[in-house]
Amino acid sequence: MEPCITALELVKSNLGFYAPLSRDAKRASPESSLSLEITPLEYPGERACEKYALVSCTKALEFDPIADIYATTQMIVEHSIPSKYKASFGDARNGILRSIQRAIHKKSLDDLKVALAAWNENMVELKAKKVFAPCEFSGPAASYHMVSHVLEQAYSRSVAPESNLLNVYEGFSNNVYGEVKHNFVNTIIQEARIKPNHVFVDMGSGIGNVVLQVAAQCLCDTYGIEVSDNPAKLAAKQKKEFISRMSRYYAKPCGRITLKHSDFLEDAEMHEVIKTADVIFVNNYAFNAELNQNILAKFLDLKEGAVVISLRSFLPVDRPTARSSRRSNAIESIFTVKEHYFGRDCVSWMNEGGQYFIHTVDRKQLAKRYK
Ligand SMILES: C[S@@+](CC[C@H](N)C(=O)[O-])C[C@H]1O[C@@H](n2cnc3c(N)ncnc32)[C@H](O)[C@@H]1O
Repeated sequence: MEPCITALELVKSNLGFYAPLSRDAKRASPESSLSLEITPLEYPGERACEKYALVSCTKALEFDPIADIYATTQMIVEHSIPSKYKASFGDARNGILRSIQRAIHKKSLDDLKVALAAWNENMVELKAKKVFAPCEFSGPAASYHMVSHVLEQAYSRSVAPESNLLNVYEGFSNNVYGEVKHNFVNTIIQEARIKPNHVFVDMGSGIGNVVLQVAAQCLCDTYGIEVSDNPAKLAAKQKKEFISRMSRYYAKPCGRITLKHSDFLEDAEMHEVIKTADVIFVNNYAFNAELNQNILAKFLDLKEGAVVISLRSFLPVDRPTARSSRRSNAIESIFTVKEHYFGRDCVSWMNEGGQYFIHTVDRKQLAKRYK
């Protein structure tokens, strides 16, 4: 198992953007003068604890270790600690969680150190009682909220430091980069009813965000294929960080994840995987008509009942269902399609909502029609 990239390492790699944690520290300290106050944070995993530097972040969009502690402790209490032990951690009004949050709001280093020491003591006690039985190879999947948090942590440590690489692409090409957000992926998971015995494929998987989320929430076999160098390189880094965190820090299982740096039109292995897929996702929002047509040709051998979810329909816009097609031998006539809507703040390239399409392979209906 790869070691995780710690919050402390991230801060150390960019000391110039941090200042001591105190009410009046607004500007970054000169790198040489910043002495780091370091504390461990206990996670549910056995012997899992991450080192944090207790410093304020002075630049927007930079990794903020204090915000990460706030979100992580809250998430662990809400989604990881079994109900009967939650009381000892308190909530937003009382107890340890409240002390951590109040110290963060007051920017009091001393209070935060005391509150985190209490957190760690309590977590170590629970771990000694085997409250978080290791379940990285089996057991229930992590909740959407936990997976979403771990994705944020993995992204901030593996992708964010080099996220400028994602802006390197030819404008108005098929390689324009953009991402669907966690809430949208969660909707897709519900709509397509993805199950542990399913095979999921993301065609054009970017940094692997969709694949990682589906693998962790659904425990199924997942594949992502990405042709562009930079997203593919960051996807490999993010996958390592995500899997290590899920299993070592949170002791949670994950489905099998295969990410390939290759062209989905050319790749022979992917051609075979697509034939076994239950759910395929294609974020084809920026793909041109020729690429969409070539992707459609890949769907000829899809399994009966397989589902293809995309942001642009694979059926011509003037024909709302494939059934009404006069060219009934065209590949699209294997599908029924339904239009759906996503709300605001679901995709990275715009705030507004938009359409997406769920195509289901249903050859039986087609056969009936021609009896
Ligand atoms: C808009 S991004 C989607 C990333 C991710 N699936 C998501 O929705 O968050 C589309 C990706 O498809 C990739 N792509 C385009 N043509 C491809 C091809 N022929 N084979 C593999 N990937 C391709 C692009 O490089 C781009 O990274």
